[in-house]
Amino acid sequence: MRCVVTGGCGFIGSHIVDALIRDGSDVVVLDDLSTGNHEHLNPEAELIEGTVADPETVRSTLRGATWVFHLAALARVQQSVDDPIGSHSVNVNGTLNILQGAREQNVERLIVSSSSSVYGEQTTHLMTEELPPRPMSPYGLHKLIGEQYADLFARLFGLQVVSLRYFNVYGPRQSSKGAYALVIPHFLRLRDEGKPLTIFGDGHQTRDYVHVEDVVRANMQAASAELPAGHAITLNVGSGEETSVNKIARMVGGKVEHINPNPRGAFEELRKCADTSRAKSLISWTPNISLSEGIRSIL
Ligand SMILES: NC(=O)c1ccc[n+]([C@@H]2O[C@H](COP(=O)([O-])OP(=O)(O)OC[C@H]3O[C@@H](n4cnc5c(N)ncnc54)[C@H](O)[C@@H]3O)[C@@H](O)[C@H]2O)c1
Repeated sequence: MRCVVTGGCGFIGSHIVDALIRDGSDVVVLDDLSTGNHEHLNPEAELIEGTVADPETVRSTLRGATWVFHLAALARVQQSVDDPIGSHSVNVNGTLNILQGAREQNVERLIVSSSSSVYGEQTTHLMTEELPPRPMSPYGLHKLIGEQYADLFARLFGLQVVSLRYFNVYGPRQSSKGAYALVIPHFLRLRDEGKPLTIFGDGHQTRDYVHVEDVVRANMQAASAELPAGHAITLNVGSGEETSVNKIARMVGGKVEHINPNPRGAFEELRKCADTSRAKSLISWTPNISLSEGIRSIL
C-alpha cells in the first residue's frame, strides 16, 4: 500500500512514517524541510522536497496513494501571530490543496493533523468536540478552517477525512531549540545546560500532554477504522489529564525560576484538558503512556 505523509521529516510525522514502514507500506514524504530534519526520516521512505502550498506538487505526490497523513504546517502560534499571511498560505491553502488532491486521486482515507488550539478560550477546562470553537490565534483559526474544509469535502465529494485535534504532543525528536520550543523539551535543555527552569507567571496554567507514540496509534486507527460516511470526523487526541507547568518542572527536576508574574498572552489559554471519549467510541483509541512514564523515557 502506498501512503503519503506530508511533514514526514518533522517531529510527529517522522514517527508516523516509521510506523507505516514497520507495517509494510511504501511511504512517500512531502516536506520542504523548513522545520523538519532529514536525519529523522526513515531511509526506506521516499522524500519529495517541496511545498504543500503548490497544488501541482501536491497532485503529483498524491498519485496512487491509499492513505494520506497531512501534518505539514507552520505549527507555531507565535509565528502565526507575527506572519499571519505566510502561515495562512501553508496552513490553509496547503490543506485545501491536500483535500483537492485527495479527491482527484480517489484517496481512500485522509487524516488531517488539527490542534486543540481550535478551542481557544472556553468557560470549561474539559474540551469536548461539541464545544463551539473560539480560536485565539491565526494558527488556531487556520486549523479550524482546515477542519471545516475537510467536512465540506466529505459532504460534497464523499471524501473520507478524519481531523485529529492533538493536544500538547511530546516525545523523542521534538525540537528543543529556538524561540518556539515547547515546554517539556525546553525544560530538558535548560536542565542539561545547568540553568534554572524558567516559568512564566505562577505556573498554575495547565495543558494536556500526550506522548507521540499514542498520537501515532491514533493516526493508524483513524486510517483503518470503519467510520460513518458523509461527513468528516473530528476527534480529540490527548491524555485526558490536566498537568500544570509547575508539575512538569518537578518531574523534569532542577532549580525553578518564576519570571514575569502575569505575561499570559492574549492568545494563550489558562487551562486545557482533552475529553477523549469520542476517539474511544469511534476508533477504539485510548492513550497508553502516562506522563511520568513518557517523561522518564526522554530524560
Ligand atoms: N507538536 C504538537 O504538540 C502539536 C499539537 C497540535 C497540532 N500539531 C500539528 O501536528 C503537525 C505536526 O507538528 P510537529 O510538532 O511534528 O511539527 P514540525 O514542525 O516538527 O513538523 C512539521 C513538518 O512540516 C514541514 N513543513 C512545514 N511547512 C511545509 C510546507 N509548506 N510544505 C511541506 N512541508 C512543510 C516541516 O519541514 C516539518 O518537517 C502540524 O500540523 C501541527 O500543527 C502539533
